[in-house]
Amino acid sequence: MRTPIIAGNWKMHKTVTESIDFVKQLEPKLAPYQTVERVVAPTFLAIPGVSEVLKNTDIKVSAQNTHWENQGAYTSQISPSMLQGLVEFVIIGHSECRAYLGETDDMINKKAKALLAHGLKPIIAVGESLEQNEAGQTEAFVGGQVRAALDGLSAEDMANVVIAYEPIWAIGTGKNASGEIANNIIGGTIRKTVRQLYGDTVADTLRIQYGGSVKPENMMEYMSQPDIDGALVGGASLKVDSFVDLVRIAAEAKGN
Ligand code: PGA
Repeated sequence: MRTPIIAGNWKMHKTVTESIDFVKQLEPKLAPYQTVERVVAPTFLAIPGVSEVLKNTDIKVSAQNTHWENQGAYTSQISPSMLQGLVEFVIIGHSECRAYLGETDDMINKKAKALLAHGLKPIIAVGESLEQNEAGQTEAFVGGQVRAALDGLSAEDMANVVIAYEPIWAIGTGKNASGEIANNIIGGTIRKTVRQLYGDTVADTLRIQYGGSVKPENMMEYMSQPDIDGALVGGASLKVDSFVDLVRIAAEAKGN
């Protein structure tokens, strides 16, 4: 049985004060849903304050990115060792970072390795563009992203990896892949690729989230799918009530 994982990716939203106020309100409301792993991903600046508020709770903190080197002449970047002790998870490979920051599969693979070497857990985002989707290239493209991101990772490493399938055309657009389509890519492409690479045990225990315009209204559609183990949520994670609804629905859907 895979523990569902719901992560709120706040992107470039909320000041430090707003982030801290938000988790103070959120924490008691999420406390009952212990069968769901609950994660917030604030901006780098807000991470220390948010981590302090959540330190004696079971709500986890994630960063939204990392560099792969520990230190050096990389203006503006934050390294895995700087995140140690403050976060448990780090989102890497988000399509916005691939598109706007020019991140490549090779960089994402280096980030995954660096995080795992520091005891941090990557949430690796993959997903195809609308053009690729319409050209029938989803399986080949997403499968390729998965292989590239995991290159050189061991089966033991995989116990600390989460993958998020986020079709680019569904992020922040209000358009979303149907639960069935998302489940087919997650099960039929991503989990299948991991099965080819690592075998049944790793494939059957790996948690794979769906992301892209997830909200309380469509959460049950995704969470009732057998291969979808949670959600990576942007917009709907920015309000306390909708974040709580997402987690409650995940707990109900997964029978916990
Ligand atoms: P969205 O973002 O829920 O606002 O579509 C999801 C994401 O980019 O992780």
